[in-house]
Amino acid sequence: MKKIHLLSATLTLVLSLPMIPATAAEPSAKPAAVTAVEEINKVCPVSGLPADPKITVVYEEKTYAFADAASRTKFNEARSNSLYHKLGGKAAMTAAINLFYQKVLVDERIKHFFEDINMNKQRRKQQEFLSAAFGGPTPWTGKDLREAHADIPGLTEVHFNAVAENLQKTLEELKIQKDLIDQVMTIAASTKSAVLNHPPAAK
Ligand code: HEM
Repeated sequence: MKKIHLLSATLTLVLSLPMIPATAAEPSAKPAAVTAVEEINKVCPVSGLPADPKITVVYEEKTYAFADAASRTKFNEARSNSLYHKLGGKAAMTAAINLFYQKVLVDERIKHFFEDINMNKQRRKQQEFLSAAFGGPTPWTGKDLREAHADIPGLTEVHFNAVAENLQKTLEELKIQKDLIDQVMTIAASTKSAVLNHPPAAK
């Protein structure tokens, strides 16, 4: 299966500890210590029951705790079956979002919508939203899409289609498999009535 080419994204955490003076001029000074304690979830993300800190899994460097082994299995299956995972996970999403907004910001049809927008924030939010929509591990907790776009003046289907086109081109350039692109585009299309503040499509 083809995945987005990832830069070998090795995160190096450099902790610079303050120097302790050799002459120990201040006996009361405490030795420098940095303890990075990861907060582990207290509620099982699958069952909603209290999580057991001994039943865990690490996904994308984050530890998740579960109420029981069955919930952990369910979580693992959901992760590996997700479109998010098949696309290449977090690093692939970052690469795709960056390329997508490069295209959007030079597209004469839509770039004016983003003139006064903090693009770092926008990239982060779009990545969080799409990651959740593609089955990533973190739920979307931002605004409802209808609310987020309701006050954008003059937003029409032409603009929506331009955004969708840029998304599709991004994924094609990143050599994502066609069936995965189709799945992404189906999800993107499902947001149309909310983004354009039209009545929800009849079921
Ligand atoms: C696939 C369709 C789209 C998705 C999934 C999407 C997603 C999002 C998300 C997640 C946010 C942030 C919401 C928040 O603040 O919590 C946002 C904001 C925004 N979107 Fe979209 N969007 C879509 C289409 C469009 C289109 C077609 C335009 C205009 C061409 C657009 C312009 C904007 C702008 C300008 C903001 C910033 C609003 C603000 O901060 O005041 N979006 N969008």
